[in-house]
Amino acid sequence: MAFSGSGTLLAPGCPGRATWPGHFALSAIVAGIVAGACLFGSGAARAEERGEAVFKRNCSICHSLDSGKNRVGPSLAGVVGRPAGSAPQFHYSVANSASGIVWTEDKLDDYLADPQRMVPGTLMVFPGLKNSDDRQALIKFLAENSAD
Ligand code: HEC
Repeated sequence: MAFSGSGTLLAPGCPGRATWPGHFALSAIVAGIVAGACLFGSGAARAEERGEAVFKRNCSICHSLDSGKNRVGPSLAGVVGRPAGSAPQFHYSVANSASGIVWTEDKLDDYLADPQRMVPGTLMVFPGLKNSDDRQALIKFLAENSAD
């Protein structure tokens, strides 16, 4: 029959796998709406969680997001958009403070892939985040959670 069948959808990132038996055209529409809602609803939340997890795992041992709270590394409060070397009361290396970098999202992406390459001599002992999805999620998280 022309309009019957079953629509099967594996929505990326949605838990599980849904099957809609029955009328094909209707189930395709439902599948579209559900997939759209699912991606729209949870995609941003998942990216945010991923960014936070990357931060906790890789950065929080040395960096705080609280303004004025320096650890081994400077506070990253408001880091996105601020010039290198500008966290108050932190003793930067000359390499970092004289780098002339402004920490835009692009610059952070480059830097976090391999800090020593971009700032030779930096005191930040961190080999770099090789996964660019991790970097992107982290940078979004920093942009949204590091308001000064
Ligand atoms: C082992 C400790 C350590 C870890 C882990 C670490 N950092 Fe750092 N970070 C530092 C230190 C120390 C500096 C200061 C570098 C200097 O003065 O040369 C720094 C500097 C920075 C700067 C430049 C800040 C400024 O004000 O110019 C950014 C941005 C940064 N780190 C982000 C991160 C992020 C994001 C992570 C996690 C992916 C991370 N760091 C992991 C210790 C660390």
